[in-house]
Amino acid sequence: MENRSLVTIAEHSKEKILYMLNMAKEFEAKPNRHLLDGKVVATLFFEPSTRTRLSFETAANRLGARVIGFSDPKATSSSKGETLKDTIKMVSNYADIIVMRHYLEGAARYASEVTTVPIVNAGDGANQHPSQTMLDLYSIYKTQGTLENLNIYLVGDLKYGRTVHSLLMAMRHFNPTFHFIAPEELKMPEEYKIYCREHDIRFVEHTDFTEEIIADADILYMTRVQRERFTDLMEYERVKNIYILRNKMLEHTRPNLRILHPLPRVNEIALDVDDNPKAYYFQQAQNGLYAREAILCDVLGITLDDVK
Ligand code: CP
Repeated sequence: MENRSLVTIAEHSKEKILYMLNMAKEFEAKPNRHLLDGKVVATLFFEPSTRTRLSFETAANRLGARVIGFSDPKATSSSKGETLKDTIKMVSNYADIIVMRHYLEGAARYASEVTTVPIVNAGDGANQHPSQTMLDLYSIYKTQGTLENLNIYLVGDLKYGRTVHSLLMAMRHFNPTFHFIAPEELKMPEEYKIYCREHDIRFVEHTDFTEEIIADADILYMTRVQRERFTDLMEYERVKNIYILRNKMLEHTRPNLRILHPLPRVNEIALDVDDNPKAYYFQQAQNGLYAREAILCDVLGITLDDVK
């Protein structure tokens, strides 16, 4: 049987990405539909989450499914030593889709190999966050009217930030120019730079975050420094406030610029940016509902024609 899991966005073709964005658009027009009546969606969150878990659960509810799961692994048998394999096999007895966030890179891939129930990767360590990418792409498309030929600036923790890793892989189809703005300690990992070279993705690296550097940006994608991934907390303290976007930095930016952030933010976007029309991060999170409705349908084989 075909496994329709969403483990990494790298497996999606350009056509598939555009198809999924069309599906998200249908859900934005009409979020409440009975497409998953009688289905059960399990949300297994081994790491904290606000948006991803709640938007997946809202998506399931709006589609008529029921939701089971946990947001605190300490309250499950994994705290007694149950393996991930056994947990996935057990939940597969109960649910039609498993949405899982896990602290280990590769956990979603592994889970997809031990069950025939579709796994949706809701973030695996510093590796990938494909459902976030789908909503990021939807947000970029909505605000720019295209995904093609954009200048995308990724700012902050490019080492541990899984959302930027997924986003750059998805954008390979759309001829972007990336600017990676990060301190030495948090630079884009070599494996992703190799990926860019192999896929003819242009990129420029910077360590300064100034008005001049972001002047040509279409998308400014800010990220949080991921404290939970540091083994050396002194290093975290050194870099945690390294880049802060302030409203005055946006004065001479392009009119079409939109500021994205997967959220949560800590200090990296000053509060005075929130009222700037170029700030789009809260709408971006709202788009997550529609993108995730599309994902839940797609992994169960529900098509765009069924949605229309
Ligand atoms: N963007 C994101 O993954 O947010 P949460 O950690 O709140 O789910």
